[in-house]
Amino acid sequence: MSDRPVFPDLVAVVTGASSGIGEATAHRLAREPGAQLVLVARREERLQALAQALPCPATYVACDVTDDDAPARIRAHVEAHHHGRLTLLVNNAGASWRGTFAEGGYRLSALRAFDLFPMTHHVECVALLEKRRL
Ligand SMILES: NC(=O)c1ccc[n+]([C@@H]2O[C@H](COP(=O)([O-])OP(=O)(O)OC[C@H]3O[C@@H](n4cnc5c(N)ncnc54)[C@H](OP(=O)(O)O)[C@@H]3O)[C@@H](O)[C@H]2O)c1
Repeated sequence: MSDRPVFPDLVAVVTGASSGIGEATAHRLAREPGAQLVLVARREERLQALAQALPCPATYVACDVTDDDAPARIRAHVEAHHHGRLTLLVNNAGASWRGTFAEGGYRLSALRAFDLFPMTHHVECVALLEKRRL
């Protein structure tokens, strides 16, 4: 990704920020001028270490995004710590498996399949994004 500013003053929720693509995305977004990040995943110690390492203000919510109360918790956190302001949702949390069709049934193909779960029930975050446009 280029270093050219794309999202001035963004407040972004990044799910799956404790490793991989989400963590790399957090590092990149943190270089945007005025950025604030909300890091979401289950492994709290990794979120805490990342929040401290990033060159921008960053908070975190340690939760399983498949829990029923996760969306409300994330929304409450954004309201409490970021003035209810949200400009970007990186809805990345997920998992993938590989195996034979016999092992995995409909979830896996004989070759290789990423079973992409829409793990984040992101309706609460979308509500915050919509509010900003009013
Ligand atoms: N890498 C690829 O080649 C590739 C290709 C296609 C699609 N994808 C998809 O892209 C996404 C990221 O992939 P990646 O390679 O960066 O994977 P990864 O390194 O395993 O990262 C997955 C992230 O999602 C979080 N996560 C998983 N389940 C969660 C849950 N129930 N609640 C909250 N957080 C959860 C994990 O954090 P915790 O374990 O701390 O919760 C982790 O931060 C995944 O959805 C993956 O399926 C990846």
